Amino acid sequence: MLHRAIERVLEAQAVWADPLGKLFVAIFAALYKPVPIIKDLLNGVWLGHPLHPAITDVPIGAYVVALVLDLSGQRAAATAAIGVGIVFMLLAALAGYADYIDLEGKTQRFGTVHSSLMLVALVLYLVSFLMRLGAVPSSAEVWLSAVGFLIVISSAYIGGELVYNLGTQVDRHAWRGGGTKWTALDVSDVPADKPVKAKAGAQTLVVVRRGSDLNALHDVCAHQGCSLSEGKIVDDTIECGCHGSRYRLRDGLVVRGPAVFDQPHYEVREAEGKIEVRRTDTR
Ligand code: FES
Repeated sequence: MLHRAIERVLEAQAVWADPLGKLFVAIFAALYKPVPIIKDLLNGVWLGHPLHPAITDVPIGAYVVALVLDLSGQRAAATAAIGVGIVFMLLAALAGYADYIDLEGKTQRFGTVHSSLMLVALVLYLVSFLMRLGAVPSSAEVWLSAVGFLIVISSAYIGGELVYNLGTQVDRHAWRGGGTKWTALDVSDVPADKPVKAKAGAQTLVVVRRGSDLNALHDVCAHQGCSLSEGKIVDDTIECGCHGSRYRLRDGLVVRGPAVFDQPHYEVREAEGKIEVRRTDTR
């Protein structure tokens, strides 16, 4: 009930969030895309997990501590906690925008509301922090950080909405499961260096012949579900045509984001004009 009401409120923000989202995407894409190594770092490719949610706990924790310290009259300690919160909020924003620039439609809209609220909270905390550096305490510095905290918590809810309800930055293969059975593909002819879409029972795979090797990965990109068979071969990887994630053909390892999860990989054997596969990695 409550969730549906909140979702309607978020949808109603399209009038300002959609144009602002386009502007944010243009700015951060111009900053990040020329340097893929930085974007990969911020997406969390090296971590095998999105980096943004791993950082966000720090500012939220620091702001809770600051609130408690303010209530107990410990101004200097509260100021230090807010300083920590601001630094990690900036880091979380850098990582969050690396994920955000690959969103579209509803997820981009909700992401824009989420990040805009966080920016407002950041400004409030910054002003509060600067006031706290002065010699004379004021109630305004406490009120500013208290309002900032309420905005952070509200915005964190929208971040949860993006992940848990809309499936942003989640592994598309989390429930795929393994298996040891060999299954025949519905294709028998795979030309060299060209991704071929094939069915293995209920699963759709992309099969690529490189020299004498035949490689098979699941066709659904772990990032946002595009078909890898519509991508292209780059060295020993396949590159997704949607946002450029690259997976190593021989084992499905993600070597370039925005995907941060490996792609399910299949062992392949050929005999009597038939191609069979079985899943090698299990999760
Ligand atoms: S769907 Fe985004 S990189 Fe494949």
